[in-house]
Amino acid sequence: MATAVCPGSFDPVTNGHLDIIARAARLFDHVSVAVLVNHSKQGMFSVEQRVQMLRDVTSSQPTVSVESFEGLLVDFCAERGIGAIVKGLRAVTDFDYELQMAQMNARLTGVETVFVPTAPEWSFLASSLVKEVAVHGGDVSGLVPPLVLAEMNQHVREQMIDRLGEG
Ligand code: PNS
Repeated sequence: MATAVCPGSFDPVTNGHLDIIARAARLFDHVSVAVLVNHSKQGMFSVEQRVQMLRDVTSSQPTVSVESFEGLLVDFCAERGIGAIVKGLRAVTDFDYELQMAQMNARLTGVETVFVPTAPEWSFLASSLVKEVAVHGGDVSGLVPPLVLAEMNQHVREQMIDRLGEG
């Protein structure tokens, strides 16, 4: 059985991520979505929340599973017998760093990286931009799944209440 991993921070998952995951699921028997635990970076959502949101929005895809990981991606792959990493490429600006990581990962364990071109409608999309727009009250509907939009709106409301409480 050919399994691929779709790794990332997913803070939060966007429609661009979901497009890559769905396309990876058409190429491989199983897709493992792996959420990086990064202790040095505070996100909008906890890793547990990100995993839960990903599970919710991929629940109709029986060959997709979601878990978190710490440490090296190649170790996550080796422990599970995963031979391929699937990454979306939005533009040439993504390419330099993605190629470096692909070559390093291949050197470490021989794991292959498969690049999938991002669909043009999502080529400008990044979790960081979505968060920036949302925290300033901009409309990000249509860029993230409705469930994620609701969670983001809730997060923004909570932040506002916290700030009012401080002031
Ligand atoms: O969504 P992101 O933040 O662009 O995803 C980056 C990610 C998680 C794929 C990358 O940082 C990663 O693989 N991190 C795990 C640590 C690791 O293996 N580092 C060596 C890369 S060559």
